Amino acid sequence: MRLGAAAGRHRAGSPRRLLAPYRGDASRVTEPPLLSVEDLEVRYRVTSGWFGGADVHAVNGVSFSVAEGETIGIVGESGCGKTTLGQAILGLTDISAGAIKLRGTERDRARRTQLQIIFQDPQSSLDPRLPVWRLITEPLHIRGGYTRKQLIERATELAVSVGLRPEHVDRYPHEFSGGQRQRIAIARALAVEPALLVLDEPTSALDVSVQAQIVNLLLSLQAERRLSYVLISHDVSLVRHVADRVAVMYLGQIVEEGPTLDVLDAPRHPYTRTLLEAVPSFDRPLNSIAPRAGELPSNRTLPTGCFFRERCPSVTTGCELPQVLVPADGLRTVRCHLVTRTGDTTLPRSAPGPVFSSPNDAIA
Ligand SMILES: Nc1ncnc2c1ncn2[C@@H]1O[C@H](COP(=O)(O)OP(=O)(O)O)[C@@H](O)[C@H]1O
Ligand code: SF4
Ligand SMILES: [Mg+2]
Repeated sequence: MRLGAAAGRHRAGSPRRLLAPYRGDASRVTEPPLLSVEDLEVRYRVTSGWFGGADVHAVNGVSFSVAEGETIGIVGESGCGKTTLGQAILGLTDISAGAIKLRGTERDRARRTQLQIIFQDPQSSLDPRLPVWRLITEPLHIRGGYTRKQLIERATELAVSVGLRPEHVDRYPHEFSGGQRQRIAIARALAVEPALLVLDEPTSALDVSVQAQIVNLLLSLQAERRLSYVLISHDVSLVRHVADRVAVMYLGQIVEEGPTLDVLDAPRHPYTRTLLEAVPSFDRPLNSIAPRAGELPSNRTLPTGCFFRERCPSVTTGCELPQVLVPADGLRTVRCHLVTRTGDTTLPRSAPGPVFSSPNDAIA
């Protein structure tokens, strides 16, 4: 992905450093982080079908925090629980255990407007019957207390701030391109002046030519408004450019988390390595990617011990025990006893067996 002006301010090949959000020294942090997710669990109760009555364990003990102005990237295979995590943060999905806190206080209904979400497909999140000014100001309309004139003025300001023209506010969603519709969705999210946006695959449904424009818009809005982002994406190059830190999810758990370049350039957890090896790149063309050799285990009954055990190329004694995230090096945490115990010297660089069925479903 080519990034434009905003990205041009970053060091080449490194995450952006427009802000100085994450100082990496927890001992100096005196205020609670903007967002803390603590031991979060989400189970879906399924009442029909073959597995009727069995819970889907979508998120299984996730903890992380996001500082003001910081971006954390969430990556992992399709079905590992990324969207559920994002929706749980917003309160769109009930949580089964754990806590979600905003500046140290459990988020309640009143505080939820500080959190907004941008979905992959802007088409589905915009009511085709409403003009753009009404769509953008929907959250204010619900809040009440604004005149029509005030709403139109506010919508116009927001539309301009996301790169639309003032006259666009009188039009309807079908009159816009995918990129413009995503701008409308972003403007709507900004209407309530949130502190954090969950971006769930925000560019995946867009033409390649407009993806970079939306990324640059998100970066400049972040710089202007000191927004925090939870970026869910299968696009490693996007995560590399945008995220300060990255968390890798497997079967509803974080298996590795740390500064973006550390994790993406020198992954420590065997799953992160496998995942990154399945991602196409210029120096690793599509035909060199290994074909299928295993699938994400069922999340109806969670595995015992390490969740990655059945697929792990490094499995050994001790892997039958539950694994916890522990500090590995620098600011990184890893959920694998081998990495921390041996200093990573015994892990093979590549998985000996192929894992993903195709590069396209490697991560999503
Ligand atoms: N509403 C739902 N009801 C039951 N199961 C669900 C629901 N939404 C998601 N799931 C299941 O939860 C797991 C995680 O899904 P999801 O959060 O969408 O993962 P991802 O975004 O990483 O692809 C998957 O097994 C998925 O089938
Ligand atoms: S704990 Fe064992 S099975 Fe799990 S990732 Fe580490 S080596 Fe592999
Ligand atoms: Mg998803």
